[in-house]
Amino acid sequence: MDPSDIMKNDRSHKYDSQSKERHIPSIEVLKNYGNSGKDYIHVVVGENVKHPNSLQHQIQWIELYARTKMQNTIQIGRVNFAPGTSPDALFRLIYFGKYREFCALAYCNIHGLWQNCIEIREELRLTAGCRREKCLQEGFGV
Ligand SMILES: [Fe+2]
Repeated sequence: MDPSDIMKNDRSHKYDSQSKERHIPSIEVLKNYGNSGKDYIHVVVGENVKHPNSLQHQIQWIELYARTKMQNTIQIGRVNFAPGTSPDALFRLIYFGKYREFCALAYCNIHGLWQNCIEIREELRLTAGCRREKCLQEGFGV
């Protein structure tokens, strides 16, 4: 089965914009978060339009995937949410510079699976923890 068969946001004709805003995970890069020297990817569902959060209707989990320069896709992590818990997850990255793209999946028990992806710009990768010389040595292609 192709995962796009179960991705709700690929069927744009079936869902209105508010439904999409309620379900599609937003992805935020937090470089040197709080001046800690640590890098995080922040994933939130329903940031602007709140998603219901009850036993009957809830976001049950968020998964974060990353694609490396070598086109390998790896799972960064998964967070499960109980009813009454806000679907908001923070993933700490050790080697931010080796990733080219991040994709988040969010699962609603009523409306299924939703996806969002972001691509990392070169300048962001450079300032995110690997100096140019070191990145070249490690083959990050900057
Ligand atoms: Fe839903």
